[in-house]
Amino acid sequence: MKLKNSYLFSAVAERTAAYQKAHPERRLLRLSIGDVTRPLAPAVVAAMRKAADEMGRCETFRGYAPSGTRMGYEPLLATIVKSYARKGVALGEEDIFISDGAKSDCGNLSDLFSADNTVLIPDPVYPVYLDTNIMAGRRIVFADGTEENGFLPMPKRDMRADVIYLCSPNNPTGAAYTKEELRAWVGYALENDAVILYDAAYEYFVSGEDRARSIYQVEGAKECAIELCSYSKTAGFTGVRCGYTVVPRELVREGVSLNRLWERRQSTKFNGVSYVTQMGAAAVFTEEGERQIGEAIAYYRGNAKIISDALTRLGIPFTGGEHSPYIWMKCPCGMDSWTFFDYLLNNAGVVGTPGSGFGRNGEGYFRLTAFGTHEDTEEAMRRIAKLLET
Ligand code: MLT
Repeated sequence: MKLKNSYLFSAVAERTAAYQKAHPERRLLRLSIGDVTRPLAPAVVAAMRKAADEMGRCETFRGYAPSGTRMGYEPLLATIVKSYARKGVALGEEDIFISDGAKSDCGNLSDLFSADNTVLIPDPVYPVYLDTNIMAGRRIVFADGTEENGFLPMPKRDMRADVIYLCSPNNPTGAAYTKEELRAWVGYALENDAVILYDAAYEYFVSGEDRARSIYQVEGAKECAIELCSYSKTAGFTGVRCGYTVVPRELVREGVSLNRLWERRQSTKFNGVSYVTQMGAAAVFTEEGERQIGEAIAYYRGNAKIISDALTRLGIPFTGGEHSPYIWMKCPCGMDSWTFFDYLLNNAGVVGTPGSGFGRNGEGYFRLTAFGTHEDTEEAMRRIAKLLET
């Protein structure tokens, strides 16, 4: 009963559908939910075809995923371990749990924590952290992300939290922590026995050496952090569904291994991700796969540039687009987020995401995604420019 009436992206979809029904002739340009448009990499498709063929033959057919390996097939776990090694992080296959995407685990990890734990959530941020903890009935405190701190809140002496959500690169602002900044959060968590739930769904968009691609690039993080990763934005898996969660064996609270606890939870409530999907995912972090997904990421970066350039020309302040596929812009003329949403929908036929849906500090901001096609992104920015220039 304490939840908002509908989930942010459902509210946007409902309002958009109502507008489209009333104006069926209008071609809407959707720059709202971060859904990808580039097709799967050929290496992924080939691996899925091969796996599907194996499932159709008696000798190579498979049933349930192997439970002893946390429901992950070995070839997939091996590529994930290697991809971490390239970031300078040593993990074992036992630290990795295959999931159907970061969103589910974001909510499900809540099962590991006591109802009377206090949860710290950045604001603005991906609404799933807040909504799932409201569902769990926990006490929630917020860490403010504002223009002043570059939308990257840092720990404060008087903070009291048992569970801390961090999202870097941040959805929606695109701000990404440096390794140095993350060191402060790891220090806080170790001192206070807190656990960090680190959402790294957009890590593949990070460029440069100083920004973190994994929280485990910071010393001590294995003793205090769980990391959530996804193939959705990295490899176009929003419709395929596959991700992985790292719960290091070093992470122990009150004498209990969280790795063991998560294994216990998953084996009770989850039956794993299909073999065909896992084999497709296993092709992502291969040499061929990385080259192919790199092309898709470059394509989305191109869209981010189209959006950023247009906003710069219009003199509208924004962040993001550099380490992230999202552009976080200030609503013009002091409009609030939903007013700007309606204004843009009604006058330009462009759909974005109201910043207020990501938290109190998001009011007066608006998020545009770079995951569309070049053509739609260009057309959307042409329409926005025409509208706002007047
Ligand atoms: C977004 O638009 O914020 C994401 O697509 C939501 C998600 O990944 O669940």
